[in-house]
Amino acid sequence: MEIMASAPGKTILFGEHAVVYGEPAIAGAVNKRATIRLRESPSDVSIFKSDDLGFEAELDTVAKRYTLKKGKPGIIKYILEILSQYHDHSPLEIDLSLDIPIGSGLGSSAAVTVSTLAALFKYQGKKFDRISIAKKAHEIESNVQGMASPLDTRVSTFGGLIYLSRDKKIAKFNTDLKTSFVIGYTSKRGNTGRMVKYVKSLKQRNPKIVNLILRAIGNITDEAKLAIAHNEEYKLGELMNINQGLLDSIGVNTNELSRMVYLARKAGASGSKITGAGGGGSIIASCPRNQDRVFKALNYYDNAIKVNFSKKGVFVN
Ligand code: MEV
Repeated sequence: MEIMASAPGKTILFGEHAVVYGEPAIAGAVNKRATIRLRESPSDVSIFKSDDLGFEAELDTVAKRYTLKKGKPGIIKYILEILSQYHDHSPLEIDLSLDIPIGSGLGSSAAVTVSTLAALFKYQGKKFDRISIAKKAHEIESNVQGMASPLDTRVSTFGGLIYLSRDKKIAKFNTDLKTSFVIGYTSKRGNTGRMVKYVKSLKQRNPKIVNLILRAIGNITDEAKLAIAHNEEYKLGELMNINQGLLDSIGVNTNELSRMVYLARKAGASGSKITGAGGGGSIIASCPRNQDRVFKALNYYDNAIKVNFSKKGVFVN
């Protein structure tokens, strides 16, 4: 029996950093996915492989160790953690296809974790239960990374564009956001923990100012919620640009991110800003028009990927 499960990547549109202090955020699943094919292993060991990432490894799920046959997979730690916690150690073969670039800030590890859990539970004959998958996926990510945002695994599991309110309630948007986006990313990864700590220390040194900035980011997110509900694409871009200025003011911008932000606007994006924690990592540009031009401009010096928001969360068959 072969099981196939697929889960999307995600991106944060508004609210990063401010969300840590109780402000709202908007994030959504994108049309780039991780797909897992899981079957009984043809040999007496578990195998994890991916043609897309060019690797193959044999897994020792009891000792949580692996032997590489080909390539260098960072993502393997998530698979080992899942199998050692939720499987009876009978040998499996797990095949990963990934169209989410690793290090792009699009949550590849969350998508791989969510799709692997969904495939494994179906293989074990369990009922498909999104709430349980989201919770377990977040635990797996926290165990492997030391710290993880529940938003990544939640969005990857349920799909769609969501608004996380000040009282931590999640609401899905009824409208479809048709706008196309481009994500730009450099090879310099951001360190979320370090950036969150930096903002905290800046806030401690300058509470009156930084509190107001975080509050303003929250207000932008609320305005963006209305812009999305009314399909005001250009307003959304303008709000992204204002948000970028505020992210810069709290010290999470870098030269590379700034370069991409302005390059995207010059190429015709209606708005562009950091997505995620900053300090390296990625930017997001909204492109009601000119998506190709923005993609080409960003991909010339750095890396870029075209994305749209997607309603499709994890599925299994
Ligand atoms: C990181 O992707 C987003 C932050 O707001 C941190 C978090 O919410 O966990 C910077």
